Amino acid sequence: MIELNIKGISDNVSKDELNSYRQKITEANNMLYKKSGKGSDYLGWLDLPSNISREEISQIKDCAASLAGKSDVIVVIGIGGSYLGARAVIDALSNNFNALLNKNERKAPLILFAGENISEDYHAELLGVLNDRDYSIIVISKSGTTTEPAIAFRLLKAHIEKKYGRQEAKNRIVAVTDKAKGALKKLAEAEGYQTFVIPDDVGGRFSVLTPVGLLPIAAAGFNVEALLSGAKAMQLLTRDKKLMDENPADKYAAARNALYNKGKTIEILAGYTPNLNYVVEWWKQLYGESEGKEGKGIFPAGVNFTADLHSMGQWMQEGTRSIFETVISVKESKFTLTVPRDKDNLDEMNYISGKRLSEVNKMAELGTMLAHIEGGVPNIAITLARLDEENLGELIYFFEKACAVSGYVLGVNPFDQPGVEAYKQNMFALLGKPGYEDMKRELETKLKQF
Ligand code: PA5
Repeated sequence: MIELNIKGISDNVSKDELNSYRQKITEANNMLYKKSGKGSDYLGWLDLPSNISREEISQIKDCAASLAGKSDVIVVIGIGGSYLGARAVIDALSNNFNALLNKNERKAPLILFAGENISEDYHAELLGVLNDRDYSIIVISKSGTTTEPAIAFRLLKAHIEKKYGRQEAKNRIVAVTDKAKGALKKLAEAEGYQTFVIPDDVGGRFSVLTPVGLLPIAAAGFNVEALLSGAKAMQLLTRDKKLMDENPADKYAAARNALYNKGKTIEILAGYTPNLNYVVEWWKQLYGESEGKEGKGIFPAGVNFTADLHSMGQWMQEGTRSIFETVISVKESKFTLTVPRDKDNLDEMNYISGKRLSEVNKMAELGTMLAHIEGGVPNIAITLARLDEENLGELIYFFEKACAVSGYVLGVNPFDQPGVEAYKQNMFALLGKPGYEDMKRELETKLKQF
């Protein structure tokens, strides 16, 4: 199982202070399992790893195999919770240079993403590279009405229909959406696309273990059963272990709330491999949307070490002491590579020649941890044996469970995101959406001040 070590917070949080959260943690767990807390209509994710049926898994695998069989590229369209989980797992497990490998070197199609931005250049370039590649589309939107993926899907639908004809395009488009409502559901029904359902009781950022994450992950050639089995092991552990010390999700939730109440209002999640960059992005969304409300919440930030030690390192070591650091550490690398010996030794690196890069990276990690703790940055360490499906499944469930407990301890509803609406309403008005005429006039007047 993944390991959690919170010894690095002891300069800031005493054992007694941590223990004072036991009661609140127990109450938060009761609210979750008794479905008595805020947002309790969205607790479906709690049991996803054990509830998903064999039939659904095999439908996902069959669909993924069928798309993969006819595609060099699969474009996943979605934003927020509708793409970050899949991207986190795919990037964590993929060769960093996947995009540069040729078709035969790659075991599965290349997964590209769209609809997570509205950049004209990004989408024009994407359509350009798809002209001479065989591709399919997985379009994901729970509400089915989100602007960014809807625009991307319009563009890609027109492109794929022109390229293959409408009939074949239908075989190359799969929709993941609500079982009954939303524009995407309507469209999928009208066009006859294969569809997968996002359960009503699972919100976007908690949906990676539904077809939202599982279908793209399977299409990328990864083992979704192993992912679910890791998640299930963590589901059982974090449900059955009542003692905070033995329950990593409870312990993490208590530690971060204790730090928050000591003025540590920013949590920086760090990985020491680029493979973890999107795990960090997924985590930022999970914690940011779940906790940042009612004027409260730890700001979730992320860094990619050691690269960011050369950009953020100074600030982290000596800047405002409002941060704590959570490090995802990976014990085993997939490959073995040692630092070569050089007869001239002009760079003076011979003292590490023969050492594995993973050992050098580990010393960077330990050195950074000690320096940051010394500099007043509390440290939480999460250790994975290796980056594989099983460990990632554990990590996903661990973070989800801890997020829900932590949100309840903080006193917010971890399952809504009312603040996300504000920019959307303004954008609709500024774009001239029917029904928004008064608001458009108001906003245009305001804009004159800027
Ligand atoms: O976590 C969330 O609920 C959001 O990030 C959504 O996933 C995101 O806004 C996309 O929504 P939808 O899947 O409805 O297009």
